[in-house]
Amino acid sequence: MNKTIPVFYTLILTIGFSATLSSNSNIQARGKVEVDPRVDPRNLTKYESQAKKILLGKSLFMDSNLSEPAGQACVSCHSFGAGSADPDQAEATSRGVNPDRFGSRNTPMTTYARFTPEFHYDKEEQLYIGGQFLDGRESSLEDQAKKPFFNELEMNNPNEITLIRKVRASAYAGLFKQVYGDKALDDPKKAVDHIANAIAAFERTDIFAPFNSKFDYVQAKKTQFTPQETRGFELFKAEDKGNCAACHPVEVEQGQILFTDFTYDNLGAPANPNNPFNYIDKKFNSEGVNFADKGLGSGENKAVKRSKLAEQVGKFRVPSLRNVAITPPYGHNGVFSSLKEVVDFYNSRDVKGAIGYSNKPEIAENINTEELGDLKLTEQEVLDIVVFMQTLTDGYQPKHN
Ligand code: HEC
Ligand code: HEC
Repeated sequence: MNKTIPVFYTLILTIGFSATLSSNSNIQARGKVEVDPRVDPRNLTKYESQAKKILLGKSLFMDSNLSEPAGQACVSCHSFGAGSADPDQAEATSRGVNPDRFGSRNTPMTTYARFTPEFHYDKEEQLYIGGQFLDGRESSLEDQAKKPFFNELEMNNPNEITLIRKVRASAYAGLFKQVYGDKALDDPKKAVDHIANAIAAFERTDIFAPFNSKFDYVQAKKTQFTPQETRGFELFKAEDKGNCAACHPVEVEQGQILFTDFTYDNLGAPANPNNPFNYIDKKFNSEGVNFADKGLGSGENKAVKRSKLAEQVGKFRVPSLRNVAITPPYGHNGVFSSLKEVVDFYNSRDVKGAIGYSNKPEIAENINTEELGDLKLTEQEVLDIVVFMQTLTDGYQPKHN
């Protein structure tokens, strides 16, 4: 459902990869390229080539031959049926193509990632904003898309040449050359740039931004919340109750409600002793069980000024809450297994003896004590907020009477 109907007609070249993405896909949107029909029809080839680029991006995203050894694709960790997060919800973080390796962080959705602004410092707010990855270390979808192929804990290609050899042998090598030119696979470095360009084009389609949850239907006045969902939404917004919208805003931005302001915070979440990253080969995690994720303050995001590094330690980007009900576990280290646990934690992190109480933050610096920790919500109010978040799952089917 798209609420932002352009003033002029749009010609839509549908590329026909709707529900075929995955058999358990509940995402209905189709990848589409919108074209202003005022353009000279003789230029339509331009849009045809955009459609081909998106199709190529899809092929690359789905291709499990592009890992070393073969067996893992982007979609393995960003599955459409799981809100484009990791379908293996039993583990806190994702297994690489080498089965004894795990990443350090809980896999986020790629759905809605196109709305994340490039990483930058907002002088007025004096805050870092945006960027891909939970510490914003890659500015754009293009920059991000190059990384998993060469990450030893993920797809594990040793270099560009290995990767390009696989692309050259693929069924879509011809399409690649149609889009980027006959010599596009000759120079491995440039070819990787093309790969990233095509994947990002695919990730910018509405397949990754369907906006068709119950929440969206309610916004469009096509259905109604239950009384409990309404209560949950009010508690979510109320500054003297959940205060969730302080960081997961419900105002329209970039034409949509995104449930994130893209800023960074340390919630003081506990370390996760069950994070499988703690137990992998010391070569990849020299700290073992003592590993503590410094997030934006780790120094891996080179755009963070040295002088500002200390005050970023322990902070992670505020995630969108769209599809959150189907993407457990929660938090950057996957320490929370249910939405109820998350809200209990916000509600009573600082209340000794209470159900969400925690005095063992993974990182003790820079914890936000102003906006969360002792919300004084009743058990019923906690459940109401959980039920509200369940309305954010895409693929809602309105009931017809
Ligand atoms: C082994 C699992 C795994 C594979 C394979 C994988 N990813 Fe990811 N992806 C992750 C994890 C974990 C993160 C977060 C990492 C971090 O913050 O340091 C992530 C983050 C992202 C993000 C940023 C989302 C955000 O909100 O910051 C995008 C976009 C993305 N991946 C796309 C891809 C693409 C494209 C591919 C294939 C080239 C891919 N991923 C392959 C696990 C995976
Ligand atoms: C001060 C800003 C802030 C406030 C207020 C806030 N959040 Fe968050 N939220 C965050 C940040 C930052 C994260 C990511 C933390 C991490 O990964 O360690 C997060 C993560 C979450 C997650 C986990 C998402 C996932 O995919 O792992 C849920 C669920 C959530 N918040 C719901 C809520 C609810 C419900 C409220 C109100 C009771 C709320 N938040 C209030 C900043 C905030």
